[in-house]
Amino acid sequence: MAFLIGVDIGTSGTKTVLFDEKGNAVASDLQEYFMYQPKTGWAEQDPEDWWRATYVSINNVILKSGVGVSEIKGIGLSGQMHGAVLLDKDYNVLRKAIIWCDQRSAKECMQITQLVGQKRLIEITANPALTGFTASKIMWVKNNEPAIYEKVCKILLPKDYIRFRLTGEFATEVSDASGMQLMDIGKRQWSDEILGKLDIDKSFLGSMHESQEVTGKVHQNAAKITGLKEGTPVVGGAGDQAAGAVGNGIVKSGVVSSTIGTSGVVFAYADQVSIDPKGRVHTFCHAVPGTWHIMGVTQAAGLSLKWFRDNFCIEEMRTAQLMDVDPYVLMDKEAEKVQAGCSGLMYLPYLMGERTPHLDPNARGVFFGLSAKHQKQDMLRAIMEGVVYSLKDCLEIIKGMGVDVGEVRASGGGGKSKLWRQMQADAFGDNINTIQSAEGPALGVAILAGIGAGVYDSVVQACDEVIKVESTQQPDDNMHAIYTPYYRLYQQLYTSLKSDFETLANIE
Ligand code: XUL
Repeated sequence: MAFLIGVDIGTSGTKTVLFDEKGNAVASDLQEYFMYQPKTGWAEQDPEDWWRATYVSINNVILKSGVGVSEIKGIGLSGQMHGAVLLDKDYNVLRKAIIWCDQRSAKECMQITQLVGQKRLIEITANPALTGFTASKIMWVKNNEPAIYEKVCKILLPKDYIRFRLTGEFATEVSDASGMQLMDIGKRQWSDEILGKLDIDKSFLGSMHESQEVTGKVHQNAAKITGLKEGTPVVGGAGDQAAGAVGNGIVKSGVVSSTIGTSGVVFAYADQVSIDPKGRVHTFCHAVPGTWHIMGVTQAAGLSLKWFRDNFCIEEMRTAQLMDVDPYVLMDKEAEKVQAGCSGLMYLPYLMGERTPHLDPNARGVFFGLSAKHQKQDMLRAIMEGVVYSLKDCLEIIKGMGVDVGEVRASGGGGKSKLWRQMQADAFGDNINTIQSAEGPALGVAILAGIGAGVYDSVVQACDEVIKVESTQQPDDNMHAIYTPYYRLYQQLYTSLKSDFETLANIE
């Protein structure tokens, strides 16, 4: 039997899972780390933390599984997208990585749009300039930290930095590199035109691969540190969203996913480049060769609930520890006691600005409709409902682009909550399915590793063999009727508050 490893370098931690070739998780390990927020809207992480979490978790899964290292045929890397890791000529990290949810680069987005031209930028990169994407983060360092930028020799995405530590290679792959906004999305290559106009040296970037291609092998030193066998192949892998999509079988038309991780993402497969003219959803290369995908992103989905847990649910966390259960299970029980609509209490999840559909770094979180009768559990449920309305915003745009939505598959940490899944079914008016494996991104890149290592023939064949639907939750018409007017008001609230968000940003 062949075994494969998927490593997912996430925002709250790195999860490594060892799978057998049937897609069963044999052992898994999670190592958490910190997100630094030096100013409102800023978000940074230390790449050394990712590396430490990677080698510790790989060692742990090898030990826990008892699998011989020669039986591990390949490794796939998945990671939080868009982060900028800057290395000097000796390949030392120059500053903490500015990560995906950082919103500091609004001015640089205007600069990029001006340098390239809005129409040309969308023609080539398939997206408008966004604070979330890597290009504007690179330009921010160029404009604000010139002494650091002068020393830059390599610019890598988070998982591609880990690839460098494992294999010594500077390489990337199409799905994650799409989110740098330096690629020609139709041609699946770096764009010389964009690089030239932004004056970014092409030699800073890794070589470009399809996600299933072998990009290098584990070198001697990394083998010692991780416990892996020297020479184990490492494939391109994928950005966490494309990786999660492969791990959920979103590799053909008709099936979309709704993922609640730190961010929230609605993801649809596309067999050609399909662009929302208003730029509200992203169009990127998919991890399946010759295909693309569309996705809508909620900046703070799981992040909203984690924020509430960490600040207001200390008791639940203590009780959960004593009971040896996940605090979110207890929080779900409290939210279940509240009626749909939370008696008029609503939440806008804009704790880190918002991408889909507003593209507004100044947007901020809001509780609306608070009255003296509301309690903590109402706020808890309002957060969950607000995140669902935000995902519905994403889904509605994708449906409006003509994407056929036969089935929505829930995934991510938030997808484990039956309550949160039912809210999605009721608010969307669609069936919500789960699949038998909850390992999304790690499974996705393990599948890609299996193709690189010759265990599977293609992504579609592997997904057909490995991924099976486990449960279906249907929408309840009465609940749909309750959520619909709240959703309309939710959409209206942003319009009402837009200029106030800007005023607040200027005061700060
Ligand atoms: C996708 C995105 C997030 C991060 C973190 O565009 O920014 O999903 O990849 O999960």
